[in-house]
Amino acid sequence: MEKNNKEVNYKLELSSEQMREIGYKAIDLLVSHYEELPKETPVAKADRASMDWLLNEPMPEIGEDPLSVMEHVEKNVLKNCASLNHPRFFSFVPSPSNFISVIADTLATGFNVFSGAWVSSPGAAEIEILTINWLLKLFGLPVREGGGLFLSGGSMANLTALAVARKAILNNEIENAVVYYSDQTHSSVDRALIVLGFKKKNIKRLSSNTNLQIPLSLLQEEIKKDKENGKKPFCVIANAGTTNAGVVDPLSKIAILCRQEKMWMHVDAAYGGAAILSEKGQSILSGIELADSITVDPHKWFYQPYEIGCVLVRNYEWLYGAFKMNPEYLKDIQGSSEEVNFYDHGVQLTRRFRALKFYMSVKTFGLKSFREAVRYNMQLAEKTQSYLQENANWEIISPATLAIINFRYKPNGLSLSEEELNKLNQQISTMINENGNAMLVTTILFQKKVLRMCLINPRTLWEDVKTTIEVLESYANKVILGLK
Ligand SMILES: Cc1ncc(COP(=O)(O)O)c(C=O)c1O
Repeated sequence: MEKNNKEVNYKLELSSEQMREIGYKAIDLLVSHYEELPKETPVAKADRASMDWLLNEPMPEIGEDPLSVMEHVEKNVLKNCASLNHPRFFSFVPSPSNFISVIADTLATGFNVFSGAWVSSPGAAEIEILTINWLLKLFGLPVREGGGLFLSGGSMANLTALAVARKAILNNEIENAVVYYSDQTHSSVDRALIVLGFKKKNIKRLSSNTNLQIPLSLLQEEIKKDKENGKKPFCVIANAGTTNAGVVDPLSKIAILCRQEKMWMHVDAAYGGAAILSEKGQSILSGIELADSITVDPHKWFYQPYEIGCVLVRNYEWLYGAFKMNPEYLKDIQGSSEEVNFYDHGVQLTRRFRALKFYMSVKTFGLKSFREAVRYNMQLAEKTQSYLQENANWEIISPATLAIINFRYKPNGLSLSEEELNKLNQQISTMINENGNAMLVTTILFQKKVLRMCLINPRTLWEDVKTTIEVLESYANKVILGLK
């Protein structure tokens, strides 16, 4: 291909040879990325000025050779993006991903599948119905009456679930409504409630108890008090795997309370839901099957690449109730009631074909592999805890739960104030991220600055965890030497 090709290509077309050449190059790049990943660092460190210097340019009037554009993107853009699928990316909720789903996304984009209406893509709609049914079954929700849809992520799933709850319980009359959840709940819930028009007076964010769970008796008292004051308690949002510590609220008890009070029970299982694949996880998540709606995020612990979140509901008619519109320009494509139009289940009309990656990866690897991966991750977190407990300088702040553990360095025999300990742990986290060898940021639990590890990557080896802890300890000793 000619460099600086000055021809106008108004059809935006390439020859078959060019498409193959570029396509093969892209696949080669991806395969090298997967091969090289463990040897590379997971952290992206470029600042705004250096990125501007590298990438800022006027909108190009004249096109370039596509291979040189790809080379530029590889070198300057992709190399400056953190790898959340890296085995030593321990922060946020990482996204271990898998190659089959990467290819599925490429196919879905390449065929430009419109996943909004049955008539546009019956194949895609059927796969979304099927995969949603798989998930409904996995979480113990009724498959016949239940429903759901794939969205961009957990934030959109929480927003969608709460919009459905608002309509189903309140008929959108929110003036006196009250919603309850713990202070460990993900911020996307706060944001969703703001977007849906709820005000401060409609929201009770309860301080969590010593197990970082929603305090049940306080919840009951608040509901009682609010009812006596003429309010309308309408929803409890329970966590099934908090972002901070992987903690699961008492789901069965919350479900009983919600049934008694005719309230909606939403479970945010964005991160923790996948634990249902393991026997231990099933017992920890017991009661989730009683929820009215569940958020699950396959781009977290179901090993899918971004973006794919999912909302599940006990009755698919609730989705229609909240979102169905009937504009004149879509009347001809309504179809029969079995032929699902996902544009009537949520906010998006035009939707990409997210279900394909979930479908192809489960069909390729088999659910058994996913179960084993989740079991491995949970065991890795437990092994990390045992290892830390062998060393008197480490303090466990929240034990391995699902696959998250929080701890801090607290040098044995050295009397440091809480403020000094916070500073020390912040410093060693900053040092390891600056070094780039691992990505491990802090959070705050019980007013303490702690190191948080989320171990949901099945390609993380014990060696990755052990070396990271050793490096953290060596940094801690350096900082302490400086203090003396
Ligand atoms: C418990 C929980 N809920 C919701 C979200 C938001 O999900 P997303 O980032 O996919 O929008 C997260 C993200 O980490 C989460 O951990």
